[in-house]
Amino acid sequence: MNAPLAIVILAAGRGTRMKSDLPKVLHPLAGRPLIQHVLAAADSLGPERICVVYGHGGETLPQAIRRPDLLWVRQEPQLGTGHAVQQAAPHLREDAVVLILYGDVPLIRAETLQEMVLIAREGAIALLTVRLDNPAGYGRIVRNGRGEIERIVEHKDASPEELAIDEVNTGILCLPAAKLKRWLADLSNDNAQGEYYLTDVIGMAAREGERILPCHPASVWEVLGVNSRQQLAELERMHQRNLAEALMAQGVTLIDPARIDVRGSLQCGRDVLIDVGCIFEGRVVLGDNVKVGAYSVLKDVEVAHGAEVLAFCHIEGARIGPQARVGPYARIRPGTELDAEVQIGNFVEIKNSQVGFNSKINHLSYVGDAYVGRKVNIGAGTITCNYDGANKHRTVIEDEAFIGSDSQLVAPVTVGRGATLGAGTTLTRDAPPGELTLSRVRQFTIPGWQRPKKKGEE
Ligand code: UD1
Ligand code: CA
Repeated sequence: MNAPLAIVILAAGRGTRMKSDLPKVLHPLAGRPLIQHVLAAADSLGPERICVVYGHGGETLPQAIRRPDLLWVRQEPQLGTGHAVQQAAPHLREDAVVLILYGDVPLIRAETLQEMVLIAREGAIALLTVRLDNPAGYGRIVRNGRGEIERIVEHKDASPEELAIDEVNTGILCLPAAKLKRWLADLSNDNAQGEYYLTDVIGMAAREGERILPCHPASVWEVLGVNSRQQLAELERMHQRNLAEALMAQGVTLIDPARIDVRGSLQCGRDVLIDVGCIFEGRVVLGDNVKVGAYSVLKDVEVAHGAEVLAFCHIEGARIGPQARVGPYARIRPGTELDAEVQIGNFVEIKNSQVGFNSKINHLSYVGDAYVGRKVNIGAGTITCNYDGANKHRTVIEDEAFIGSDSQLVAPVTVGRGATLGAGTTLTRDAPPGELTLSRVRQFTIPGWQRPKKKGEE
C-alpha cells in the first residue's frame, strides 16, 4: 500500500521586493496566478490533501483562488519556513508522505516531483538541489567526507568556506510525515535571521542516520522563484520560450518564437502558421492550415481549417469557419459564429451574430445581434442599430441579400431573401424578398446657385 501524499504549499511570505499590494503568488505568469501553476503540478500527483499556508495579504489569497477542496492554513505572524510548516503539521496524517512546495516557484514539473514522492514512500528523504553559477542568497548543501548530505546552511549563517559551495537548496523536499512532525517540534530560531528554518530538519535527520537523497530538476528554470518583477518577467519569457518550442516540435510555424504569448491553452492542427506579436488567451483551437497574422489577439476562439486571420485582429469568444478570412483590423466579439468562407474586412466589428456561408462584410461596418444568411453582401459603412438605449434587438438578413453602402438597419428588422437595399437606406420596416428597397431623399439641383463670398472677394 502506497502511503497517502499530502502536499504543503508555502505562500505566506511578504514578497516585499514585488512592491505590490497584490500577494506575490497572485501575480500572473502566462495569464494565471503563480500559485495556480504550482497547484496544477500538485493536482497532477493525485494527493490525498493539499494544504496552502498563507498569511501576508490576509484573506485575499484564498478568496482569489476559490478552491474549497484545499486546506487553507493561516500563518500569522510569519516566523520562517519551519514555522510555516508547523502550522500545517496538525493537518498531516502520521502515515502520509509530505511534499513541500513553494507558491512562488511556478514552473516545477510534476515528473520531477513524482520521483521525490517515490523516494519518500520508501522511507527516505528526497531533497531537490541544484548547482548554480551564482548561489548567493540560497541555502547551501553541506556534505560530509563520504559525500552524503549532512545539513543545510542559510546564506546569512554560512562561513566563507560554506559560501563557496555551489550546490543549493531549492526548498522543495519530500519526507515521511511522522518524522517531519517530530523534527518540526524541535526547531529553534537561534540563527542569523531569528527564524524557524525548515532547512534545520535536514541536519536533524542526518544526525539520526536517515537517508537523505538528492534529486535534481531537468532544467534550472523548474526551481527558479519569483521575488521581484524582474524575475517574474524573466520567468515569463523562459516559460513562453518553452511553450513556443513545444508548438514548433508539434509542427507549428512560428515566424519568431521569441514573439508569441500563450496565456492559456493553444491547440494547433497541422501546418499552422503564426506571425509575430500574437497573444492567445483562454482556450484557443486552430485547425489545419490556419494562418494568424501579426499582432492579433485571440481569446477563447476556435478557428477552423484553412481560415486566415490577417494582421491586427482582436477576436474573442467566437468561432471562425473553414476557409474564412478575417481582417486586417477586424474586431470579432463574443457570441459570433462565422460560417465557411465568410470574409470580414478592415474596421469591421461583429458582435453576437451568425454569418452564413460565403457572406462578405468587407469594410467599416458594425453588425451586432444579427443573423446573416448565406452569400449576403454587406456594403461599406453598414450599421445594425441594435440598441435603443434600453433593449437589444435582432436584425435578420436572409440569404443572398445585398445591403447598399452606408445603410442603417434599425432593429428589430428583417431583410428578405435576395432583397437589395439602396445605398444610404435607413431601414425601419422589413424589406420584402427579391425587391429593391431604399429610403433616400430625392436628389435635386438648384440651377444658377452661387456660393457665398467673403467681403472683398470678387
Ligand atoms: C528558503 C530556504 C533556502 C533556499 C531558498 C530557495 C529556509 C530557511 N531557507 O530561503 O535554503 O535556498 O528558500 O528559494 O527555508 N514562507 C512562508 N512563511 C514564512 C516564510 C516563508 O510561507 O514565514 C514561504 C514564502 O512565501 C516562500 C517560501 O516560504 O514561498 C520561501 O520563503 P523565502 O523567504 O523566500 O525563503 P528564503 O529565505 O529565500
Ligand atoms: Ca525566496
